[in-house]
Amino acid sequence: MVTYIDAATAPLKNTGAIRLYGAEDFEGMRRACQLTARCLDALVPMVKPGVTTAAIDKFVFEFGADYGALPATLNYRGYKYSVCTSINHVVCHGMPDDKPLRDGDIVNIDVTYLLDGWHGDSSRMYPVGQIKRAAERLMEVTYECLMRGIAAVRPGARTGAIGDAIQTYAEAERCSVVRDFCGHGVGRLFHDSPNILHYGKANEGPELREGMIFTIEPMINLGKPHVKVLSDGWTAVTRDRSLTAQYEHTVGVTANGCEIFTLSPAGLDRPGLG
Ligand code: MF3
Ligand code: CO
Ligand code: CO
Repeated sequence: MVTYIDAATAPLKNTGAIRLYGAEDFEGMRRACQLTARCLDALVPMVKPGVTTAAIDKFVFEFGADYGALPATLNYRGYKYSVCTSINHVVCHGMPDDKPLRDGDIVNIDVTYLLDGWHGDSSRMYPVGQIKRAAERLMEVTYECLMRGIAAVRPGARTGAIGDAIQTYAEAERCSVVRDFCGHGVGRLFHDSPNILHYGKANEGPELREGMIFTIEPMINLGKPHVKVLSDGWTAVTRDRSLTAQYEHTVGVTANGCEIFTLSPAGLDRPGLG
């Protein structure tokens, strides 16, 4: 049984009920999400061979601080960084360190700012120097998966329509969908109901309603879908060490479809791709 609850009256914890947000809440989300998007824009010229992910982490912290925002990942369930930086076969939750990025790497940078009580969660892939055609194709397929998932969002559809659109396209392109991580409700809470699966069937999952806010963040592999988490407790990698990619937007359901809160104001939603 799915329950929907007016976000204005709901307790600030994930009870499994789906929060429905109003016009003022959407305005708060626009501000948080646009700050996240502007940070991801500012990282485009910075991501080059030789830069460390620790330097990216520091930049993300300071960029937020300049606008009164905190990274929601900092001290989240023991995570110690302002950003996730996931390189090559790292699926998600890669931790920044002092190793320089290398020519040919692809890196996902995932930023969540908490601004005035609202969470803006988004990630993009960044090519480092000159990358292989296979890596570029994987990024193109993954971005298209995200946008096809978003195109399935409208009141009356089910969350499964998003996963169905993503899985159908990814598998037609001979790629695989990671099952172990999903999109999530977001807003006043960082990770809220419902889960947004990136695979499945259009008739599955709760019905989408106007006012829902969630992320879509497909992780797509060139090889098999299976992942494992390293002994650090965070870093998720492909079991077969195949290349993986992810893009993430935060969206709000409107009367006719959805609003993408984390769109790049500079048109840099897919850095390095045409
Ligand atoms: N931003 C990630 C997401 O898309 C969550 C990162 S949680 C962390 O949901 F603790 F790993 F940072
Ligand atoms: Co997310
Ligand atoms: Co994220």
